Amino acid sequence: MKKYLVVGNPIEHSLSPKLQNYWLNFNKIEAIYGKLQVYDDDLKELCNSIKNGQLNGLNITVPFKKKIIPHLDVLSGHALRTQSVNTVCLNNGNVTGYNTDIEGFELSIKKLNYDVKNKKIVILGAGGVVPSIIYALKKMNAQQIYLSNRTKEKAEILKNLFEGIEVIDWGSLPTFDMIINATSLGLKQNDKFGIDFSVAEKNKLFFDVIYNPFNTDFSEAGNKPGNIIENGLNMFLFQAQKAFSIWHNFEPKIDQEVIKFLEG
Ligand code: ATR
Repeated sequence: MKKYLVVGNPIEHSLSPKLQNYWLNFNKIEAIYGKLQVYDDDLKELCNSIKNGQLNGLNITVPFKKKIIPHLDVLSGHALRTQSVNTVCLNNGNVTGYNTDIEGFELSIKKLNYDVKNKKIVILGAGGVVPSIIYALKKMNAQQIYLSNRTKEKAEILKNLFEGIEVIDWGSLPTFDMIINATSLGLKQNDKFGIDFSVAEKNKLFFDVIYNPFNTDFSEAGNKPGNIIENGLNMFLFQAQKAFSIWHNFEPKIDQEVIKFLEG
């Protein structure tokens, strides 16, 4: 039986096992998908397990999307460009890292019918998923991307990976069209931003990368007349669909049944 794992720390919140096992059962594939809380020292062994066939695939989540890279043999173009890996498997004998977060984010924006072109966008956070979001936004021709992170140096490092990014102070907001929460603030039920979002009224898109819980302090702040609020569920579904197709060579269905199952 084939074995797949999502690894991260923390990992309890991840719905990947529920989703991937649903698709495996639905498509009658003999495989199991589990989750494991891991530490830096475990990454090498996990990649060895891929190499020797004990494990068939990995999803990588926070805070290991960059840290996994030195243990891989090959990176896909997207993973190389963003220095961020969320999917791993053996390809021609090489432990290969892929990035499906870029497509996950892009497809979730397309599903909203939101046109990013010429928009001013604020990204809160500078963690593992942010390079993928920047890459996708630039591909969709965003006009201006502002990056704001509590630890400013991490935003400065990211800025060097891309052209035309402006780093702004944590807590100060410029005029914008879209704001993205890419921090882990909101994973815990009583997490609070302490940022004044009151300038953001009418025709703003509030995009929270967090999907579990479905509502956060951030999405509540954006809940004003005329605004659009989107959580990370579609991004999660699309990145998972692309990861599944890397491992099993076809795309599983995303429909109301899957969504109901996940929300249940
Ligand atoms: P990592 O930073 O290790 O890649 P991540 O979960 O991808 O992990 O990123 C967590 C993000 O949430 C970071 O941007 C982090 O800000 P710092 O770089 O300053 O740590 C942000 N974050 C976490 N807790 C926060 C808090 N209480 N206030 C503001 N930002 C927070």
